[in-house]
Amino acid sequence: MLIKYKKSYEKFAMGLLSFMPKEKEIKVLRNTMKNYETDENLQLFLWKDEEIIGLIGIQISSDFIEIQHISVNPSFRKQGIGKEMVRSVKEQYPDKELKANEHTESFIEKC
Ligand SMILES: CC(C)(COP(=O)(O)OP(=O)(O)OC[C@H]1O[C@@H](n2cnc3c(N)ncnc32)[C@H](O)[C@@H]1OP(=O)(O)O)[C@@H](O)C(=O)NCCC(=O)NCCS
Repeated sequence: MLIKYKKSYEKFAMGLLSFMPKEKEIKVLRNTMKNYETDENLQLFLWKDEEIIGLIGIQISSDFIEIQHISVNPSFRKQGIGKEMVRSVKEQYPDKELKANEHTESFIEKC
């Protein structure tokens, strides 16, 4: 189930974000989190089954949404969760086109 990020999930979110190659450095990671917390055009979602196991972060524009970050806990990969998160985010914004950025495009193309 896709849930909206809130501050109490910060540690889970940072852990998941750090699996993205660009987010390895703690300074970069903190800055990314700050952007998601302060910029209203950026939205962070988590994927929760019994626990939080995935993250997807998007930038919302007038006619499209761009997937900025996507990550799944390594123990739960290759079970379709990544694709399910992309599908669920698209469902939240049915009128907008879905795009990727340079850091997410290889997986999004696969979806
Ligand atoms: C990318 C990621 C979110 C996919 O999550 P997932 O839950 O395993 O994805 P799904 O189970 O829905 O899909 C698995 C498929 O995606 C493929 N895949 C995984 N990572 C990929 C990548 N970086 N680029 C393209 N395809 C990728 C798998 O090889 C698998 O292919 P198959 O169906 O032909 O076997 C996960 O591998 C991850 O967290 N990676 C680290 C973070 C990252 O690099 N994110 C940016 C990705 S561009």
